[in-house]
Parts: sequence; structure tokens; C-alpha cells
Amino acid sequence: MSAPRVIRTVAEMRRAVADFRKAAVDSGSVGFVPTMGYLHEGHASLLRRAREENGLVVLSVFVNPLQFGPGEDFERYPRDEKRDLEVAAACGADIAFMPSAAEMYPNPPLARVTVGEITGKLCGRSRPGHFDGVATVVAKLFNIVQPDRAYFGLKDAQQVAVVAQMARDLNIPVEIVPCPTVREPDGLALSSRNVYLNGEERAQATILYRTLERAREWIAAGADADRLRDRMKQSIAESPLADTDYAEVVTWPGLGDPPAGRPLRDLGEPLLVALAVRFGKTRLIDNMIFTPEEVAATCSGK
Ligand code: PAJ
Repeated sequence: MSAPRVIRTVAEMRRAVADFRKAAVDSGSVGFVPTMGYLHEGHASLLRRAREENGLVVLSVFVNPLQFGPGEDFERYPRDEKRDLEVAAACGADIAFMPSAAEMYPNPPLARVTVGEITGKLCGRSRPGHFDGVATVVAKLFNIVQPDRAYFGLKDAQQVAVVAQMARDLNIPVEIVPCPTVREPDGLALSSRNVYLNGEERAQATILYRTLERAREWIAAGADADRLRDRMKQSIAESPLADTDYAEVVTWPGLGDPPAGRPLRDLGEPLLVALAVRFGKTRLIDNMIFTPEEVAATCSGK
């Protein structure tokens, strides 16, 4: 496939989409995949889905300083523009929007987007301000690209919930399309941050996936929220290099707390089981969403 057109300014990005809309007759929709680059198969799956469903596919690559806290990995976040463009080409992206920080934030922004309660738990609790940074940059990107559909990975389930809430509350005319988590053959969720892991940490990092698979069984066996949290923490502690940041269960997509003491399998609501685990300086997250039907199938041994 041919190389995508690289665009670095907001003005040119707006013009390109306006020109496409003027010329488009059929399948004139714009599909958008926002990323921070260092693309892997997870990002590629979003691009391919966008390619199938839209006339124009826009990828953005921007490591957003606003969503990194002090002491986090903004400076050392991996970057490889050349390879990103190869992946984008292989997936059929039409445009790669790659603005500089000065282009996106010519001045420190005074207006910011805050999404409220659902940003205060899970990753939002461990990373204060993170989701305001995400919501603000995604709102800016939506206003610049003006997509009909935007594709987000469920690997970052809370991010999907936050962005969907923002789009609803602010009447942004975009459909948020959640896409499944892509994993390595041993279950580790693909992440640009996996390159930080040394050999031993990489081997032990499968504990996230294995713990989530066990969680499915524990829910089916009748665990309540507290019991599930305890068992997941014990499970993670089996890996000596792993340090649990959180091991949580909330309702999906509302991110509400399940009632204490009630077997989770009796709630009749989808559940988000989510983990954040540190290996040295590297923080990995993973999750699974269990529907009532899946839990029932696990209970009956299917
Ligand atoms: P980034 O971490 O680069 O991820 C970009 C998109 O790829 C997100 O929607 C993320 O959920 C998805 N993704 C990452 N790993 C995945 C995997 N293993 N399977 C499926 N999808 C995966 O998320 C961000 O960037 C930023 O917060 C951003 C939304 C771009 C705002 O700055």
C-alpha cells in the first residue's frame, strides 16, 4: 500500500478533511485512530478496522505531554516515526497527522476538559490529572480531524469510557468504536511500554493475563468484589518482580462499585476486571470485560 500523506499542521489537517468531504460521494466517512506512536499490532488492528469502515482513514501520532504526570515516562516514551509510517502504510491509512508539541499547544491551554467521577478511580486514582490530559487532547484532535468514527482499544477500557462520556456530554458528533485487546501468544497485552521490560520481567508479565483468566473462574464460583480483589492480589504476588498498583472490579461501562458482599455473578451486569502492575519502573495495565452470559457459561463449564 502507498505511504500515507504526512501532515504536521492543524490548518493543513483541516483542509485535507474538508477537501475529502467536498469530493466524497459514497462511503464518504472519516475514520480516526489517535495514538502516541511506536505502533504495534494493537494499533494496527484499529487502523485496519477503520480502513474497512471508512472512505478516509486518519492516524494521529502525538505523545501528549498533558497526560503524563511528574516523574512519569514522557521523556523516555519510545518514538520511531519511520516505522510508524511503515505500519500506517501497511494498514492503508491515508493521512498521518504528526504535529509537534508547539503546534498542538502554542500556549499552555487554559481551557481543559474534565470528565468527573469516572476519572477518579482505577488509573485515574494512580495517575491524577491523566484523564483530563487525555480528554483535552482527544477533544482537540476531534475538533481538528472532525471524524465520523474514532477507534479506541479496550486495552485502555477506562479511556474508552471517559472518551465516550465526553463525546456524549459535549455533543461531539463522533461515534466511539471500542475494539478488542490484541495480545501476544502467551497472553500479554501488546503495549508500546512492553519494550521497557527486561527478559525476566517480560517472562513474569504474563501474570496479568493469567490473573484475569483466574478472575473469570472466581466470579463464576461466586466471589464477591472484596474476595475477588484479594485473590487477584495474591495471584499477582506469585510473580516476585510484580508489584500491584491496583486489582479492581467495577461495573461496565459505568465504572460503578459493585454492591459489597454480593456474589458478582448475580449482578446481571457486565463487569470490568482491571489490573495495573509495576515491574521495576514499568507500569502495565490489562483488563477483561465479563458479560453475564459469559459468567453463566463459565459456571456451567462450557
Ligand atoms: P496509545 O497508548 O498509543 O494507544 C492508542 C490506541 O491504541 C488506544 O485506543 C489504545 O487503547 C489502543 N491500543 C493500545 N494497545 C492495544 C492493544 N494491545 N490492543 C488493542 N488496542 C490497543 O491511548 C493513547 O495512545 C492515548 O491516550 C491517546 C488516546 C492517543 C491520547 O493521547
